[in-house]
Amino acid sequence: MRQMPVIDLPSVARELAESGKRVKVLWQEPDSLAFVARGREYRSEFHINASDEFTYMIKGTMNLHYRDESGKEGILVIPEGSTNFMPGNVPHSPRFPPDAFALIVERGRREGEVDRFQWFCPKCDSLLHEERAVVDDYKKDFVTRAYANFFDNEQHRTCKNCGNVMPKP
Ligand SMILES: [Fe+2]
Repeated sequence: MRQMPVIDLPSVARELAESGKRVKVLWQEPDSLAFVARGREYRSEFHINASDEFTYMIKGTMNLHYRDESGKEGILVIPEGSTNFMPGNVPHSPRFPPDAFALIVERGRREGEVDRFQWFCPKCDSLLHEERAVVDDYKKDFVTRAYANFFDNEQHRTCKNCGNVMPKP
């Protein structure tokens, strides 16, 4: 019989806080991918992927920045104990502090799907840089990898429109 895990969310949050890790994958199936995320104080990019996304705030408040069809930025506030549904392909930037924890449920990526991570110039809002990844295993923590590539290369952080350089945190 398949595994049917029962997982205590506060314990997972404690484990993340103590280990310093940002993400713990709870399960990963073709139609259901669940993980607990700890906030990243440096989160600035917008993530674009085809999966619908369910969020539940275990502890703390999330400011879910997003961009609408015209590229205009908005913010949804998701307080502790609240949940949110976000359809696929909405550029989103989940911003919450490192002592806050969110349960996120998506689906696994389909064959050929590519996740995109986009940064915008803090000064003029032009597209600064895009990282792409085939997210075949969420345990590889592609968000951390995308940030490493972005922060390690000053060219990625230099605006082609206005010349502003986005600093490393
Ligand atoms: Fe700029």
